[in-house]
Amino acid sequence: MAESSLNPLREGMRLRKRPSACTLVILGATGDLTKRKLIPSLFSLYRQDQLPQDFGIVAFARRSKNDAEFRADMEEALRTWGETATEQEIKQFLSLISYHQGDFYALEAHHELLKRLEQLENKRGIAANRVYYLSTPPSTYESIISNIHQAGLNKSENGWTRIIIEKPFGQDLTTALQLQQVVSEVFSEEQVYRIDHYLGKETVQNILVFRFANGIFEPVWNRRYVDHVQITVAETLGVEGRGNFYEETGITRDIVQNHLLQLFCLCAMEPPSAFDANTVRDEKVKILKAMKELSDQEVDKTVIRGQYAAGSLMGKQLPGYKEEEGVSSTSTTETFMAAQLYIDNWRWAGVPFYIRAGKRLPKRVTEIAVQFKNAPLQIFGETQVSSNVLALRIQPDEGISLRFDSKVPGPSSLIRPVTMDFRYGTSFGQKAPDAYERLLLDAMLGDPTLFTRSDENQMAWKILEPIFQRWKEQSNALLPTYAVGSWGPAEADLLMNSDGREWRRL
Ligand code: BG6
Repeated sequence: MAESSLNPLREGMRLRKRPSACTLVILGATGDLTKRKLIPSLFSLYRQDQLPQDFGIVAFARRSKNDAEFRADMEEALRTWGETATEQEIKQFLSLISYHQGDFYALEAHHELLKRLEQLENKRGIAANRVYYLSTPPSTYESIISNIHQAGLNKSENGWTRIIIEKPFGQDLTTALQLQQVVSEVFSEEQVYRIDHYLGKETVQNILVFRFANGIFEPVWNRRYVDHVQITVAETLGVEGRGNFYEETGITRDIVQNHLLQLFCLCAMEPPSAFDANTVRDEKVKILKAMKELSDQEVDKTVIRGQYAAGSLMGKQLPGYKEEEGVSSTSTTETFMAAQLYIDNWRWAGVPFYIRAGKRLPKRVTEIAVQFKNAPLQIFGETQVSSNVLALRIQPDEGISLRFDSKVPGPSSLIRPVTMDFRYGTSFGQKAPDAYERLLLDAMLGDPTLFTRSDENQMAWKILEPIFQRWKEQSNALLPTYAVGSWGPAEADLLMNSDGREWRRL
């Protein structure tokens, strides 16, 4: 496959743009996300000289610390999760961070925060451009937003204000609408950046480029040629000490409502007429609206849930979900979900989309596989396999491959499937930036294309509503189990097999 070279003209304005001077306020800054993702991503942007000329980070959290103590924590985080750099670079970057101690539930703490921001901005002589990053438990969102409002932090006289809200945005349609009501009283939609870090992944963005920058795939991307689509988000991780959180969440809320449905939208949506925030998001909403609503019988038949039981993974014996800390011994929370979904539009009518997401599966792998219909006539007899699959590998082995049948060399007419493979690593020779780098930068630049709009988020909840309702009615039902290190419960295989299909062996 021909290697693409970076074309500076095609990269366009995007790379040369730099956000105007601003301050990023991280609320909940002593949490895991800040250490593992936000600070390392900001540091990487700093090293690439992509941060604003004048930039500051204010870390806001409950724990009592001073600037020096918090910086020392972040230094350790950078040494663990950040990229390799000189002492000088680390030191200079850390000097951009200030720590502000306060309680999210206390209005006074937000008044103090405003004073602190004004002092810092005056000292640096910059406009009051502020991005708030809510990296706190979702239960705190409403209270923080109301405090932001009452303290007057949501608007600045001489600058812009934006808020980044981590998922989950709601727990179901009703709570998503409630939260949106609170948010919209304080911020306009243009100020709100609902983050789904999958949209910041290079390979996820490349789904759109693959589909809409190339002319050859679109003509076959429809019901005439596609037999079915499989979308997999498989993880080897369990609940990683987040048993309490998972009990309230389950994989459908944690992964399907956001990450997986985003992949689904990008794969199934119509071509947008332009690559801008609203046009792209309009198309995503349209495809969600076109999804067939599931009846109770369909939920029972075509939506599978499962829970992992003790088993072994990569040579390690691991406990089952019910044995995890913070999990009830009678829990009916799903750690695996698979479903068959349909889209009622001209492009996709009758084409099943099989989705699956699971914790403690044998491999970490996320991919979209488009399986094409067989050749109309099998002229090579029994040896013909006809298995054209286009696989968009999101992670970890990032790339795209096309499987087709080929003649085995020699006098026989044996046929075997082979693949044509594109690998990011080989073609571009550089490591993809972390998803948070792109998203933090976009929020500072004021580009919401890769963030979810409120109607999009609500539609994603709405689609899942019949599933949650049905599961609630069956709350005493025993969940099918699957051993740690297996590909989910047998019921998930049956879902496919009953249609004469199989899950891809990944
Ligand atoms: C998070 C979920 O949003 O995504 C986690 O809360 C999950 O449960 C994680 O492990 C997966 O992200 P990634 O980027 O590792 O695929």
